[in-house]
Amino acid sequence: MSMQIGVGFLGAGTVGSALIRRLIYESDAIAAKTGLDLVVRGIAVRDLAKDRGIVIPPGLLTDRPRDVVDDPKVQIVIEVMGGLDPAGDLVMRALNSGKAVVTANKELMASRGRDLLAAAETAGVSLLFEAAVGGGIPIIRPLSESLAGERITSVLGIVNGTTNYILTRMVEEGIAYEEVLAEAQELGYAEADPTADVGGGDAASKAAILASLAFGTWVDGSQVTREGIEDLSTEDFVFARRLGYIPKLLAIAEYSEDSIAVRVHPTLVPLDHPLASVRGATNAIYVSGPSIGELLFTGPGAGGEPTATALLGDVIMSARERLAGTQVKSRIRFGTGRLRDVADFSTKWLIRTTVADRPGVLAQIAAVFGRHEVSIKSVWQDGRGDEASLLLVTHESPEGDLQLAVSELAGLEVVSYVDSVMRVYNDES
Ligand code: NAP
Ligand code: HSE
Repeated sequence: MSMQIGVGFLGAGTVGSALIRRLIYESDAIAAKTGLDLVVRGIAVRDLAKDRGIVIPPGLLTDRPRDVVDDPKVQIVIEVMGGLDPAGDLVMRALNSGKAVVTANKELMASRGRDLLAAAETAGVSLLFEAAVGGGIPIIRPLSESLAGERITSVLGIVNGTTNYILTRMVEEGIAYEEVLAEAQELGYAEADPTADVGGGDAASKAAILASLAFGTWVDGSQVTREGIEDLSTEDFVFARRLGYIPKLLAIAEYSEDSIAVRVHPTLVPLDHPLASVRGATNAIYVSGPSIGELLFTGPGAGGEPTATALLGDVIMSARERLAGTQVKSRIRFGTGRLRDVADFSTKWLIRTTVADRPGVLAQIAAVFGRHEVSIKSVWQDGRGDEASLLLVTHESPEGDLQLAVSELAGLEVVSYVDSVMRVYNDES
């Protein structure tokens, strides 16, 4: 006989409706596999009249989210409304009243996660967030449980499906940015406000969550240095390819010399690196440590269906805990570590400039880099008569030194433009 557990939804958009469909219309298969009868008791939305692509039994929809949280028949609250308000207060209310919460909300976890996890621990209930990072890829539980004993040194990869989809289509098919962004929204990959995706904010929240779990030091989303993909041009893609690179939006969290560096930015990845062939909304995350070497987690990073699978796994885990009568104690502890200043981040760089095509120009430019201790690895020039495109790849250099060199470069009489400055993936480190 199946055991009944009541679940309530805060939100029924792309992700919520995918999970609601499964809970309502695939309940037999879930019960057969888990022994659980997960019963949807209420669903809070903004617009009661909206077509959600599924038939929702009468009486379940409400536009009063508190009614779902306060419903005594709801034991697990599934938060898939997104954003900080009112999601944060509703989750806190649910936890304080002894309900388990499952959420896909990375923005919320990256800003209020520490307090919410503490509230969950006090109440003896679970707050699970596998769906907040990597869509359908299991990465939160591996980091917080399976790898809890490893001294993780870095977590690095592609954690935003929308931007990877956009970059793939732009690079491979030359489709315009606005058109591909609209496709990503249509496919349900993008956030309600897609500036969070294209501006790097979504990846920054995910990087903060991954870093906090990997290094055991709380990293707030606002502390993550980020740059989005909005300023990349088709010309950047063309020149990058000529030098053997493809642009990817990478999240990079590193622990070294007793400090943590967490950042998100477009990075030129060598075409023969495995990350270069991660296409569309797929995500790929490398986790490295002295004993494990390197693990790669990859799979669908966005979209309603894969994310619903991650949420459902958490709901099943919470339901099992409930039925076992487990008083859940937080499995996660956060210490305080030092976050490295952005000026100290080191990487290789590609600088693309338009310069005067005449003798002595290269020497002037090389002198600028030399003065700022930035070592040039390779130079590529395409002369066009009066002007030339000049591409320089540097050895690994700190961001602070590079920025000083670039601003001096921009002031040289022989330099017409600094067209772009991009970080290059460092395979040697
Ligand atoms: P969405 O399509 O915009 O859905 C949001 C839902 O929440 C909608 O049903 C909306 O109601 C409801 N809602 C929002 N504010 C509300 C309020 N104040 N009161 C009542 N209902 C409210 O978003 P989504 O793509 O499903 O994403 C949901 C969450 O999952 C976000 O935290 C997102 O970051 C995360 N996530 C998304 C994906 C993905 O691929 N989409 C993947 C992983 C994680 P209406 O429908 O009536 O407007
Ligand atoms: N907007 C997010 C993305 C959804 O594109 O990756 C998955 O978290």
